[in-house]
Amino acid sequence: MAAAYQAHLTAVIDQPCQIGAGTRIWHFCHVCADAVLGENCNLGQNVMIASGVRIGRNVKIQNNVSVYGGTTIEDDVFLGPSCVLTNVSNPRSQVVRRDIYESTHIRRGATIGANATITCGVTLGRYCFIAAGAVVTRDVPDYAMVVGLPGRPRGWVSRHGHPLRHPVAGIYTCPESKLRYRELEPGVLRCLDLDEEAPLPPSLAIGSRPYRDFHSS
Ligand SMILES: CC(C)(COP(=O)(O)OP(=O)(O)OC[C@H]1O[C@@H](n2cnc3c(N)ncnc32)[C@H](O)[C@@H]1OP(=O)(O)O)[C@@H](O)C(=O)NCCC(=O)NCCS
Repeated sequence: MAAAYQAHLTAVIDQPCQIGAGTRIWHFCHVCADAVLGENCNLGQNVMIASGVRIGRNVKIQNNVSVYGGTTIEDDVFLGPSCVLTNVSNPRSQVVRRDIYESTHIRRGATIGANATITCGVTLGRYCFIAAGAVVTRDVPDYAMVVGLPGRPRGWVSRHGHPLRHPVAGIYTCPESKLRYRELEPGVLRCLDLDEEAPLPPSLAIGSRPYRDFHSS
């Protein structure tokens, strides 16, 4: 039976592994044995998925990303080009730590920007946004934007990837989707109109205008 996923001829896919229907795997990728990829994922050029890694549905991984053992990626995550994940805090070539990889958990809808680095042992919250080039060393709350080196939270970001600014009576409104958000307690933001685990309605799933259109001062 033909595979329900597509893989370029140059991709190496070790068996056994699970790859969901509709997933596309581009040039020079390597999916190791015992990896699990959900449906409708996209692996760009030169992506490596290590043995035992679990990846959900609709996960988009851009060119030149290695997803090392110990990483769990939930649905709808975006990994930007050449971002770096890690699995040993204190690597030494002389000391074998193959059986004690540290975990990294990337929760639903999170984005990691181009060239960002995630040190291991952290959880990136739902819909958080790691800016390009940031170095993340701590857990990141849902909807938090993290910028810089070391990465520090810089406000909230919507499910559509817009910084949330200028709350009115405590309510932030995403300029693109118009979904509303409120900080329930310090450090905890929730969407008032759509449960964090609910899929995005199709009408909200296609971008309308470029980022700068919403943020020109
Ligand atoms: C973080 C990001 C969304 C911009 O956020 P923003 O709040 O709109 O930022 P602004 O452009 O208004 O800039 C605000 C300040 O942050 C700085 N800044 C913006 N992005 C930054 C980043 N990635 N790292 C460090 N500083 C950054 C700006 O230089 C500016 O500084 P200034 O006030 O001293 O001039 C964007 O820069 C980013 O990193 N996007 C990810 C792009 C990406 O990786 N895409 C991958 C798919 S191709």
